[in-house]
Formats: sequence, structure tokens, C-alpha cells
Amino acid sequence: MTEPLTIVLAAPRGFCAGVDRAIQIVERALEKWGAPVYVRHEIVHNRHVVQSLEALGAVFVEELDECPVDRPVVFSAHGVPKSVPADAERRNMVYVDATCPLVSKVHLEAERHHRRGRHVVLIGHAGHPEVIGTMGQLPEGAMSLVEDEAQAEAFEPPAPGTPLAFATQTTLSVDDTARIVEILRRRFPDVAAPNKEDICYATTNRQEAVKAIAAAVDAFVVIGSPNSSNSKRLVEVAKAAGCADARLIAGAAEVDGGWLAGVRRLGISAGASAPESLVEDVVAACRALRPVTVEEVAVAREDVRFKLPRELAS
Ligand code: F3S
Repeated sequence: MTEPLTIVLAAPRGFCAGVDRAIQIVERALEKWGAPVYVRHEIVHNRHVVQSLEALGAVFVEELDECPVDRPVVFSAHGVPKSVPADAERRNMVYVDATCPLVSKVHLEAERHHRRGRHVVLIGHAGHPEVIGTMGQLPEGAMSLVEDEAQAEAFEPPAPGTPLAFATQTTLSVDDTARIVEILRRRFPDVAAPNKEDICYATTNRQEAVKAIAAAVDAFVVIGSPNSSNSKRLVEVAKAAGCADARLIAGAAEVDGGWLAGVRRLGISAGASAPESLVEDVVAACRALRPVTVEEVAVAREDVRFKLPRELAS
């Protein structure tokens, strides 16, 4: 007889308010201006979301100069360097900024520190669009990127005694970041901190939910795209919290009886850019292989919603 499988769903999981808003912005822009609407960079890091918006007439490009000047362009939820809207204005383009308000908050903070003469240390991952966008808020050389504890130990201010502040990418591991901040505070006791944590509520809640169940399951899957920073962090959190067999999958096609064999309890979460339909598909794929019982462990309730930009609000 086939072994039954208990699926433990982590909650909260999946879409956050910033992702929800960014997708709505593209949908409303298509309603308002018709297709095609150009989107600079994947609006959120999820193939499934990108493909469904492409089906409605969105065209995804990497750089502004790939967009015709007579079509509207949307900037992704990760945020963009200041040069991008400036370029769009120079070319007289219609643009809508879908940067998550919690990323914009980090941008404003970085500017505030800069105005007060502080050099900003940004904790984040090199090459991630959010980091490129945040670093692009200040003139070159006004911000330094620190990616890990070793770099925090090695960091030197541009000149001895330069006042410092730190800011972080919104989707980092809460625990890894705390260790990096500890090093900066030990080395530079006067370093200014964000008013309120830069790692966003959605990242924090999803990590807490994974931690709450990881030690009590035999395997863990996080549903999300390989380029989704917050999804990759959830896999690391599951491993650190006691589930050695934790993996990132893009969707139900990656569920197979091979790695499920021997698993009696399976934890499931989804990154902030992964729709709930992908979770449902994964549960259905497990059901096709084994008799399944589903439980949910919730660590927080979320009711955050962000307003749409004025030009698209109804
Ligand atoms: Fe915003 Fe956090 Fe989502 S920064 S886009 S609410 S993961």
C-alpha cells in the first residue's frame, strides 16, 4: 500500500503586497493604454507571472532603449536607479514606477543619510536588481556594498572617520543580516541604522513560518523561481532550522516520486513572487502519487495593501 503523506503548509507564504501591486499596475496599464505595454525587467521574479502578463500583451525588456518611445513602460517592483526614470523623461516616454513602496522607503533613507554626510553601507547581493536600483539612488562612490560577514570585517570607509549608515536589501535572511549588522556595529559603533527594519514584513513572516515547521518535517519545498532572492533565502532558512532536505522548485513539474519516497511529512512554502495556484498544483501533484493530508501552520496574519500610483487608481 502507498505510504500516506502529510503536507504542512507554511503561512504566510506566496504573494506579498508589493508583488500584488506590481502585477495590478501592469494589468491596469494594459487596460488603460492597450497592448503592448513594455515592462523593464521581470515585473516580479516569477516565470509563471511573467508569462500570464505576456499573454495579455506585456513585453518584457531588460533596458529602456529596447522600448519604443511612443509606448508606456512599467519599472519592476525591485526598483530602478535614478538614471532610468530620468532617461524616460528625457525621451518623453510615459512610464509607471511599480517599485514596491518598501523598497522606495530604503531609497529615501539612503538619500537622507547621504544628505547628512554619511557614507552608506548597503547589505545585499551584488547584481540583484534591487541592489542595482538602491545603489543607483546616490552618486557613484557614496554607497558601498557588503555581501557577507567577511566583507563586513574587511570594509573600510572612504576616509578614516567618515560618518556611516547602513541599509539592507528587503529580501535578505533575517539571521544572516543580523550577524553582518553586529560586525558593523562592533567595528563602527556610531553607524546609523534604519528607522525601521529594511527587511520587509513579508520576508520576515515567510522566514518565521518556515522556521516554525522545518524541524518537524522530513523534506521541504519552496516554490519560486531560481532568480527569486526571497525564495532562495527560504530554502536556506529551512536548512538552518533543521530540515537538511530542502529545495527550491519552480512548480508541480518538479514533483517526483523519487525524492518523495521515504518522506512522511513535507513542508511547503512559496516565495513572495509565487502565486498560490502553483502551491495548489504542487499539492495536486503529490496527491497523484500518494494519499495526502494537508495541515497549515500560521505564524502571522497579513493585511498589508499598497495604493496604486495615481495615474492608474480607479
Ligand atoms: Fe515589497 Fe517585501 Fe514584497 S519589499 S515586493 S513587500 S518582498
